[in-house]
Amino acid sequence: MKRSVPDLLHAPEPLVMVTAYDYPGGRHAQGAGVDLILVGDSLGNVVLGYDSTAPVTLGDMIHHARAVRRGAPETFMVVDLPFGTYHTGVTDAMRAAVRVIQETGADAVKMEGATPEVLEVVSVLTRNGVPVMGHVGLMPQTATAQGGLKVQGKDEESARRTLDGAASLEAAGAFAVVLEAVPARLARLVTERLHVPTIGIGAGVHCRGQVLVYHDLLGVYEGEEKKISKRYAELGREAREAIATYAAEVRARQFPTREQSFVMKDEVLGKLY
Ligand code: KIV
Ligand code: NA
Repeated sequence: MKRSVPDLLHAPEPLVMVTAYDYPGGRHAQGAGVDLILVGDSLGNVVLGYDSTAPVTLGDMIHHARAVRRGAPETFMVVDLPFGTYHTGVTDAMRAAVRVIQETGADAVKMEGATPEVLEVVSVLTRNGVPVMGHVGLMPQTATAQGGLKVQGKDEESARRTLDGAASLEAAGAFAVVLEAVPARLARLVTERLHVPTIGIGAGVHCRGQVLVYHDLLGVYEGEEKKISKRYAELGREAREAIATYAAEVRARQFPTREQSFVMKDEVLGKLY
């Protein structure tokens, strides 16, 4: 059964969120029974091959979210508003959010930051019936301004900014707040202060929920393992090995076999000679 916002707000059990970017990802996530799917703008990194999320467009997000929805029609789906789509005023932000909801069937949108401008957007959207998930701590869309992709909230000023940001997002109407790459003890304090759920990634065990990126969780890329993630599978290695086996069999004429081939009667063939 699909979760609703009130249901997520009061869930006693930890909330499970995973990202997805396409139809198979949506099917896998829904089949596994997660509480929420996030169509993250990490799309830019893990699917489109960019080195940041900044180039991702609203059109990219909509295209991918529609595919996820076809694979996961019964799961609560959150879609990231990409960089630049909620920074030029509340009207533009509302328009972007309405497009996402109408064109993809999303249940909520997510945006990064807790600046006065973003808080105003959160407040207007939520008052107009668009559920918004906030996101503080490490914020990839503006990571360059934050000094790169690194843990946030380690010193008092940065910790206070994260704590106040999360509290302001709740006050503005956000139904949940993602905490990315912050110390576990800070995430615990934020979680205690808020009434709405915190959803952590690299934020310790005390958050009310957890989120992981599909490609990280499944080991789609071999090599680097991220500190904030855990690999539950090695799909990248399996894919490479499977394709290499296929290539070897083609080159040795071991594939296809009779099993993958169609037959023709002798008399029909005879007429062709
Ligand atoms: O885009 C994304 O995948 C995210 C999660 C890491 C929270 O924003
Ligand atoms: Na994101």
